[in-house]
Amino acid sequence: MSQADRQKWNEKFRQNPALIAPRAPSKLLAEFIESSDFKNAKALDLACGGGRHTIYLAQKGWYVDGVDISSVALEKLADRVDLKRVKLIEADLDNFKVEDAYYDLIVMSNFLDRELIDRAKRWLKRGGYFFVETYMADEANQKKDSNPDYLLKEGELKRLLGDFEMIEYREFWNESYEKYRMRKQGILARKR
Ligand SMILES: C[S@@+](CC[C@H](N)C(=O)[O-])C[C@H]1O[C@@H](n2cnc3c(N)ncnc32)[C@H](O)[C@@H]1O
Repeated sequence: MSQADRQKWNEKFRQNPALIAPRAPSKLLAEFIESSDFKNAKALDLACGGGRHTIYLAQKGWYVDGVDISSVALEKLADRVDLKRVKLIEADLDNFKVEDAYYDLIVMSNFLDRELIDRAKRWLKRGGYFFVETYMADEANQKKDSNPDYLLKEGELKRLLGDFEMIEYREFWNESYEKYRMRKQGILARKR
């Protein structure tokens, strides 16, 4: 499965390099980072892809570990970041592990693995933040052939992070640069 996934994503990024071109970070995440005062804190970007959040957080002074299954995405990203601040890890998140209570922030964006959200909670320090933002099921979504398993249900992120303190929750339409207009959901929640 993991080998097939790796090939699928590498092929997709080779055929359409625009998918891993530099892009703006999520508004919700950027608002939080701009209004807080972390010094040399540690973040984990799960399924970092082209690395819009890895790049952004490193520019803001974070140490970032970016994990992705695609060597094509990671090779491009390696040229765009300061590797003294960023560690790029080629791995299948289905079997990825790190030490407990290590990170100040974990990011999962445009990617949904409910089981991984649950597993990753222990990798956060107490008081650390989990940011998740991805697509939702909605009748008005333009992309009609999305796998429903990878689409969030109404309010689902609040349930998935129900044991955390909710700092911010939003439902909104996606960024204009994306090909299809899609409903999204984002949450920033703090580990108790
Ligand atoms: C749509 S991109 C999202 C990239 C980035 N997080 C963003 O917000 O722009 C999804 C990423 O998930 C990665 N991915 C898919 N399955 C994975 C797995 N099992 N383990 C690690 N990465 C995976 C893909 O290689 C791809 O880079």
